[in-house]
Amino acid sequence: MKSRSRSLLLIVLIAGVVIALLAWAISFVLNRSGDASAQLTQQVTPELVRKGEYLARVGDCVACHTSHEGGKAFAGGLGIESPIGTIYSTNITPDQATGIGRWTYGEFERAMRRGIGHDGSALYPAMPYPSYAKTTDADLQALYAYFMKGVAPVEQKNKANDIPWPLSIRWPLAYWRSLFSPAPQASAGADAQTATTDDARIARGAYLVQGLGHCGSCHTPRALTMQEKGLDEQSSTYLAGAELNEWAVPAIRGIEHWSQEDLVEYLGSGRNRMASVAGEMKDVVANSTSHMTDEDLQAMAAYLKSLEADTERAYRHQPERSTATSDKLTAAKDLTLGERLYVDNCNACHFVSGGGASHVFPRLDGASVVNADNPSALIHVILAGAQTPSTERSPSILPMPGFAKRLDDSEVAELASFLRQGWSNGASAVDAEQVRKVRSLLSHDPVGERTLEASEAQ
Ligand code: HEC
Ligand code: HEC
Ligand code: HEC
Repeated sequence: MKSRSRSLLLIVLIAGVVIALLAWAISFVLNRSGDASAQLTQQVTPELVRKGEYLARVGDCVACHTSHEGGKAFAGGLGIESPIGTIYSTNITPDQATGIGRWTYGEFERAMRRGIGHDGSALYPAMPYPSYAKTTDADLQALYAYFMKGVAPVEQKNKANDIPWPLSIRWPLAYWRSLFSPAPQASAGADAQTATTDDARIARGAYLVQGLGHCGSCHTPRALTMQEKGLDEQSSTYLAGAELNEWAVPAIRGIEHWSQEDLVEYLGSGRNRMASVAGEMKDVVANSTSHMTDEDLQAMAAYLKSLEADTERAYRHQPERSTATSDKLTAAKDLTLGERLYVDNCNACHFVSGGGASHVFPRLDGASVVNADNPSALIHVILAGAQTPSTERSPSILPMPGFAKRLDDSEVAELASFLRQGWSNGASAVDAEQVRKVRSLLSHDPVGERTLEASEAQ
């Protein structure tokens, strides 16, 4: 009996090893697509390099490939947290030894659209190649020309990832990729092909949003296996809202509460007549969308507007409710603690109407950050304050002071609950424990006091 179970164990073990070896061997085949020796088919001209520079803005390469600790642009070294550990972005300057200076166009194409690294191993999808897979050959060639001829080489060795063995083994990623990342052949040229719609502008917008813009990497919810739950409009979860480091990332399907122009302004300048940008979207606007042409912003906005919104969850303006709140705040009688805190601390900029001031102070009645399921971002803004980015279209920086030192956890909870249920807003109440958690994650020196001074100087 004993020896039988022992031989059974042996068979299972051997079978396991054989299967693992087979899986490993097959992963090599999966990593062999694309032509690593492919060359540019266009001549490298200053125009091509400039086009590549523009596309690098659209793709926001600088955001991930530049370390926050005073790192040189595109030299890599930024740590990106993932469920298995920290992945460091790489040096994509044309340095021969430490960057991509020796890469052929074909190798660049394989990394960008297929997630295959220089040595043929699979890249982590922290590099958004499932989105970049949609990029056309023509655009990729321009990007390559820019990284070879338009970027200064920086000698900086890549940092080793901080992922424990055996999770650090890369070959299983090849399976992830073949399951979840679209084949470039199927989607390259999407520029022209997405024209299942006759509207060329929407098609261009779809190409930018889904492809280089990789908007879905933050705005689309992810499955347990970390892939985005949809990569284009065929999925109703595409751009349906998600969370990023506890910060609510709003749905951007349809955006019924904004006009096409509102969207264009927000992406191009960081603010519009109702909102101003905060959280990680601030960097997206500052590094990427604010550098895009009006035509491309119009195209992206047209595409987002063309998507069907989840109307059940969307904010609805209810004039009687909104007026009731303004009237109560104006009368200043029998105010709840939350209402009183609002009048005392927020009213000067956001007003009793919660309407703010166009292009200066954002509207709180209807703001996505106020109505989000997860109130962490709202709590964060109240505690730490926020500051609009300076963009070419809107250079002035408008700061909001932080209230971490002035309000305690239960006061912030009362205030946030009022915001989420006042005017036409309709979200759940906040408790002091939620505030305590967000506060414990803030740095010890909230930016509030300093940014307030900046505001007076303007
Ligand atoms: C959201 C973050 C993010 C963005 C945006 C991003 N990358 Fe990456 N990229 C990474 C990470 C992380 C890696 C390393 C992946 C790995 O080690 O498996 C990487 C790897 C690469 C590689 C492979 C380099 C090597 O040495 O193996 C290339 C080439 C590359 N990126 C180019 C680009 C370009 C061009 C853009 C802009 C169009 C871009 N990346 C935008 C995160 C990003
Ligand atoms: C790095 C993550 C990230 C990426 C990439 C990203 N976003 Fe965002 N986006 C956010 C966050 C976070 C917010 C919430 C901002 C706030 O709270 O003020 C946001 C807000 C927005 C809003 C405001 C919606 C509202 O109702 O207030 C729009 C519009 C938007 N993003 C469009 C885009 C588009 C278009 C792209 C691609 C070009 C994109 N985003 C890429 C994180 C991201
Ligand atoms: C001195 C003027 C000022 C005061 C006082 C002020 N705010 Fe703001 N608030 C701003 C500005 C400016 C922004 C835009 C900052 C940004 O988008 O980065 C803003 C943004 C916001 C946002 C939106 C952030 C986003 O992600 O879209 C919320 C919510 C908010 N304030 C709530 C409050 C509350 C609650 C109070 C009172 C405790 C308050 N504000 C007090 C000026 C002010």
